[in-house]
Amino acid sequence: VTSVQSIKRTSIAALESLSGQSDLRTLRLQGVCARTRLQLVLALRHAKRHALRTLLERTTLKQRMDETASYEVRELCETDLEHGFPELLAQLTQTGTLPLSFWRERYRLRQQLPGTYVTLVAVESATKRVTATATLLIEYKFTRSCGQAGHIEDVVVDAAHRRRNLGSRLVRELCARARDQFKCYKVTLDCVEENEAFYAKLGLERKGVQMVRYFRI
Ligand SMILES: CC(C)(COP(=O)(O)OP(=O)(O)OC[C@H]1O[C@@H](n2cnc3c(N)ncnc32)[C@H](O)[C@@H]1OP(=O)(O)O)[C@@H](O)C(=O)NCCC(=O)NCCS
Repeated sequence: VTSVQSIKRTSIAALESLSGQSDLRTLRLQGVCARTRLQLVLALRHAKRHALRTLLERTTLKQRMDETASYEVRELCETDLEHGFPELLAQLTQTGTLPLSFWRERYRLRQQLPGTYVTLVAVESATKRVTATATLLIEYKFTRSCGQAGHIEDVVVDAAHRRRNLGSRLVRELCARARDQFKCYKVTLDCVEENEAFYAKLGLERKGVQMVRYFRI
């Protein structure tokens, strides 16, 4: 009879074939004591659970890599304005009805403010459409020894592409840039209650109260 330790190392297929009642009966016939039989059963259960968990984790990881591999993540460029960027933002909030020339002008204005805006997009490789976006705005403060604070804004993933890790990929990258590139001491963002769990998974936590006043302009 193989030792409990080596059984743990046995492949899941072999374990499957060993775990039936008939195998345990065979062991009893072979004179294996009750204590060893019990250890064997527990070891089999543990090994099966462990192997299954590892298999599941690997599959999920691979699935995620496959999913994100079909998108290119990069900074927004002007041509994205004609490839779904305005329509995507319209899934988040009101964007108005201004012609494309206004969007271009706004894009160029932001380009003239270096070190202030980082807008990332995820572009679907097959269609070249913008399917997700998120922006980091850098605030240059007097406080915190003239430090920087990052503000994450306008996070949205196209409805047909949600739950494929795109939102988290963009927010994660913006957080990394805020910390490493701009030396921000924090990043903050406002969100609705339903999205709290999404951001919590990315290491953000609830703090304070958001206040807002809208103006009629
Ligand atoms: C919120 C949003 C950006 C999430 O993007 P996404 O690409 O679908 O999310 P991801 O696939 O990266 O999800 C990452 C994890 O968060 C979870 N998650 C995603 N959205 C969630 C939500 N609303 N509530 C709870 N968990 C959520 C996912 O299940 C996943 O969990 P896992 O790692 O345990 O599997 C997207 O749903 C969206 O665009 N919503 C509409 C616009 C919006 O609300 N924007 C946020 C403004 S603050």
